[in-house]
Amino acid sequence: MAVERTLSIIKPDAVAKNVIGKIYTRFEDAGLKIVASRMAFLSQAEAEGFYAVHRERPFFADLVKFMTSGPVVIQVLEGENAVLAHRDLMGATDPKKAAPGTIRADFADSIDANAVHGSDSLENAANEIAYFFPSSQVFSR
Ligand code: TYD
Repeated sequence: MAVERTLSIIKPDAVAKNVIGKIYTRFEDAGLKIVASRMAFLSQAEAEGFYAVHRERPFFADLVKFMTSGPVVIQVLEGENAVLAHRDLMGATDPKKAAPGTIRADFADSIDANAVHGSDSLENAANEIAYFFPSSQVFSR
């Protein structure tokens, strides 16, 4: 297995619920290291750019509105198989379908307010990490 990096976002709903620490603990307990981290209030342009692949989807405008509705916490996670390991911790996009014990099952309310984002491939992870963090702000350990 390879050591990978993936991009994670704690979305406005989870920040508002005061569960940043609980989510960070899940990353750490799974062996993922937080190697970059910052809180941000995304602008409309930043959110649109980040989700550009979904531009044509019917939920795009609502997704951008939600992601700019409050502060988020953005982090880079590093570890063995980090992309898939993080997706497993998150659970399915729709919390009603997310496996028990996953972050979305425990903290998400709906498919649109679903607590967390995680890169879905190694290629997307590299692009998403670069979107939010210059390499000088990622601290490999
Ligand atoms: P997607 O990349 O399909 O899911 P994931 O976050 O699990 O990788 O979709 C991106 C986000 O778009 C998703 O987290 C929430 C939002 N979304 C909706 O609001 N409605 C939908 O029907 C879908 C598929 C996604």
